[in-house]
Amino acid sequence: MTASESAMGSGRSIDMRAAWNRASAVYQERHAIPVDAAHYGPWMPTERELRLLGDVAGRRILELGCGGGQCSIAFARQGAIAVGLDLSDEQLAFARRLARQHGVQVELHQGDAADLDRFADATFDIVFSAYALQYVEEIERCLAGVARVLVPGGLLVFSLDHPFRAVFWDEKEDEDSVVAARSYWLRGAMEWQFSGSGEWMRSFHRTVGDWVDLLHAAGLAVRRILEPEPQLTPEDRLAWQDSYTLELLHLVPHTIIFVADKR
Ligand SMILES: C[S@@+](CC[C@H](N)C(=O)[O-])C[C@H]1O[C@@H](n2cnc3c(N)ncnc32)[C@H](O)[C@@H]1O
Repeated sequence: MTASESAMGSGRSIDMRAAWNRASAVYQERHAIPVDAAHYGPWMPTERELRLLGDVAGRRILELGCGGGQCSIAFARQGAIAVGLDLSDEQLAFARRLARQHGVQVELHQGDAADLDRFADATFDIVFSAYALQYVEEIERCLAGVARVLVPGGLLVFSLDHPFRAVFWDEKEDEDSVVAARSYWLRGAMEWQFSGSGEWMRSFHRTVGDWVDLLHAAGLAVRRILEPEPQLTPEDRLAWQDSYTLELLHLVPHTIIFVADKR
């Protein structure tokens, strides 16, 4: 994915549900995300290595922005009660097929992660998300919902594009830059084209400090922030090469993982 233009003043109308519906087939085909362990993003160690969630057998896990369901399927295969929510009908259709293929039950819901009203209070032991919360505009509402649906002491673990990466999204050149091209403090919407299908997408830039403050305001205590160094395996290089500048991957953190719990 390449950054193209800040949304501020662009006036472009983007329907994210429709955009992800159109991008889904290319996304799934290109990235071929495995279902053996929950992942945190391109070139990242998986949950098998990081062990941020502990033993998930018998745990109730809600995945926000579950996409093609690979992480939820991995949880279900390990004995968790997995529930996935995503905005995109096509991503969910893929998830449904994949779960069937792997012979596991994952309860799937279409909706915005900002609206968790369908879930009762204290329903989940864990809320998990991989590379999805940066798309949620009403993030305060989303995190308040997460805090509400978690049991006391329940865990929220999520990964994002590292906010520092936004600094190297060159809005003029429409591609990643190896020099700083955008202010870290330029918060708000960013619009860019999905490299696979050319769909315009919108995500929201928040600094690391903003995320910590947002979590605390929602009643979620930050326990860890992880910024793993990319592990450039040949397989992953093929699957994600269109989305990242390899030179930059060696210089700048690309993924951030937050671990928080309900106070
Ligand atoms: C980069 S994909 C990640 C999907 C999946 N977690 C994975 O790792 O492949 C982002 C996902 O977030 C979903 N999404 C975007 N905005 C959303 C929102 N407001 N609420 C819920 N899901 C959203 C998209 O439909 C898409 O499936």
